[in-house]
Amino acid sequence: MSRLLEGKVAVVTGAGQGIGRGHALELAKHGAKVLVNDLGSSVHGEGTGRAADDTVALIVERGGEAAANYANVADYAAAGEMVAQAVDTFGQLDILVNNAGIVRDSAIWNMDEADFDSVIAVHLKGAWAPSKHAAVHWRERNKANGAPVGGRIINTTSGAGLVGNFGQTNYATAKAGIAGMTQTLSLELAKMGVTVNCVGPAAATRITATMPGAPAVIEANDVDEGEWNPMDPSVSSPLVVWLASDEAAHVNGQVIRAVAENIIWMKGWADGPTLNNKGRRWDASKLGAQLGIDIFGTRAPGLRY
Ligand SMILES: NC(=O)c1ccc[n+]([C@@H]2O[C@H](COP(=O)([O-])OP(=O)(O)OC[C@H]3O[C@@H](n4cnc5c(N)ncnc54)[C@H](O)[C@@H]3O)[C@@H](O)[C@H]2O)c1
Repeated sequence: MSRLLEGKVAVVTGAGQGIGRGHALELAKHGAKVLVNDLGSSVHGEGTGRAADDTVALIVERGGEAAANYANVADYAAAGEMVAQAVDTFGQLDILVNNAGIVRDSAIWNMDEADFDSVIAVHLKGAWAPSKHAAVHWRERNKANGAPVGGRIINTTSGAGLVGNFGQTNYATAKAGIAGMTQTLSLELAKMGVTVNCVGPAAATRITATMPGAPAVIEANDVDEGEWNPMDPSVSSPLVVWLASDEAAHVNGQVIRAVAENIIWMKGWADGPTLNNKGRRWDASKLGAQLGIDIFGTRAPGLRY
């Protein structure tokens, strides 16, 4: 096996278990030194713990290099300290994988303000804050030597954010925001040689286990090398490693899902059929018929039940 990330330094957030652990193990397998971040909270974001230590131990046991970080990624200062720890411990930062997440699902009429705020904070600010500190690090490096820095940000979205999911107005909003943030960040950082992309995984983790009829939780290290399980949390990790590598320098601002054996390049919002009123103001009383006939091709767009 040729190693794609020899000598690179990565931070993976929420890597104490689940999908993040899968990414951390795969990055280390390809030669990256990994700062394993995890707050160690419950799936709903309560409490703290040392889950990061378990992933570090696995990486070291397999001959890799890793260190633990227990920051809350939604805490701006703590996110800065996390990036500084990666630089102090391993010399610099090359790869940031924003993966940490929680869920607090319910239909909007049952959702508390705290359920909305905490999910938005962990996912959205929890991706923005480490990205901000990483961007400052890369800008300083780029200014110092004028060369492209080859940095990578890989964010994590979800089908809920891309196409919607009942009971997840908090989570879906955050995940759609992350896809949008990816596009804007990719524009801002391109000139210094940093790419920003977004993956959409699917796996049997404690997040999916909160849903009725979900499969039992699988840990990334439960599945032996070479074994295939479509719900293994590391199913999307080879895609993350490739996006993090120098080979993927030409891929920027993209959203790519890895679901079981499929890798799906997502096509986002794009202009569709257009109605032109030839310089006149629209008349609301006529708009229903015009849109139904010329744009939607039906009187009931999006009516699914
Ligand atoms: N499981 C799926 O099918 C699926 C699908 C689409 C997207 N995702 C996304 O993948 C990511 C990983 O989820 P998972 O399914 O592995 O869940 P998980 O609960 O197994 O792992 C999430 C990890 O994030 C950590 N974490 C939570 N809040 C944190 C914070 N504020 N700071 C640092 N760490 C924090 C948790 O302690 C946990 O270890 C999430 O962003 C999730 O939304 C998962």
